[in-house]
Amino acid sequence: KTLILKVDPQNPSINVIREAARILAEGGLVAFPTETVYGLGAAADIREAVLKIFKVKNRPPDNPLILHLADPEWLPRVSRNIPSYAYKLIEKFWPGPLTLILPKAEQVLSEVTAGLPKVAVRVPAHRVAQLLIKELGKPVAAPSANRSGRPSPTHARHVIEDFNGQIDAIIDAGETLHGVESTILDITLWPPVLLRPGAIPIEEIEMTLGVKVTVPEFARGIRESEEAIAPGTKYRHYAPMAEMILVEAEDYKNLDKLVEKVKEIALKKISRGVKVGILCSDETAHRYEGLGLVVSLGPRSDSFIIARNLFKALRSMDELGVEFIVAEGFEEKGLGLTVMNRLRKASGHNVVNAV
Ligand code: TXA
Ligand code: MG
Repeated sequence: KTLILKVDPQNPSINVIREAARILAEGGLVAFPTETVYGLGAAADIREAVLKIFKVKNRPPDNPLILHLADPEWLPRVSRNIPSYAYKLIEKFWPGPLTLILPKAEQVLSEVTAGLPKVAVRVPAHRVAQLLIKELGKPVAAPSANRSGRPSPTHARHVIEDFNGQIDAIIDAGETLHGVESTILDITLWPPVLLRPGAIPIEEIEMTLGVKVTVPEFARGIRESEEAIAPGTKYRHYAPMAEMILVEAEDYKNLDKLVEKVKEIALKKISRGVKVGILCSDETAHRYEGLGLVVSLGPRSDSFIIARNLFKALRSMDELGVEFIVAEGFEEKGLGLTVMNRLRKASGHNVVNAV
């Protein structure tokens, strides 16, 4: 049975933190909130616990895990030969939603890094995550707390949907702040390479480093990578149960063509009796009246809100029995890049252009 531990996100009960840390110390799995999404944690030095993560998630063993530290000062415990420019990012963004790929220290289990010589590390900014890791006293390996391929969990109930009865405990601290995962940057290369756009826009990283970050096509979600550099990107991700199509525009200043294309696709499906859902924006939502379930992600001017609502909206489509989702695209600027990566992957690269 899965223990559900409710806490105040700002001021969690120390007894709950202690109990969760004890479960981790004994080799159990605990789902916990971070500022991005919920993570499924195991003590990083207990091999059986780490292997259990792969098992319950049904995660391919070649897809490595992120190590979560309570404090940047723990870094020498998991990494070595850290390039000096990494510290610019660490000072600016830790604790926070930036995951750095660094050379792995000997003692990190090879199961955690899936045999790679590099390790993914971050210091989460969520108070519950920090207290939990500090109480355990060692790094916590944690992927997002969803079954492989499903949208990441932004609420404890999403974790329960995927894992009830299969993990030892869930710390429920309500909705997460960013609603999308951390930005992953390989800082062992120069210029650094973006492996996954996330909650920190690359523009902010580029300003801090004073260099353009390399953005491979797989990081935009345009295609899947076969490259060993980003093992996670070759698997289907974030997919709702429903079939999904993404409609992209050349530019997002005039939305008329985009709306027309979305309507055309939706109407065709509806005429065949398919239950349709439309993922759109505040600017366009009123134009789809009567076209099935219409869910706005928020205003196009605020990509933080759009990103924050995305996974919840994808899961709600499933909860409401939608069979076919038509999603609007967004401009690939700031967090828009993160949103487009998730939408392209969620659609299984089923993308059309509005022309
Ligand atoms: O915000 C987040 O990053 C959340 C919270 C829980 O911290 N975690 C998360 O973990 O999103 P996960 O496992 O869902 O995604 C981690 C990604 C995977 O795509 C994996 O392939 C990549 O990080 N990764 C991990 N270690 C790596 C490594 N050594 N080299 C390259 N990619 C790595
Ligand atoms: Mg994940």
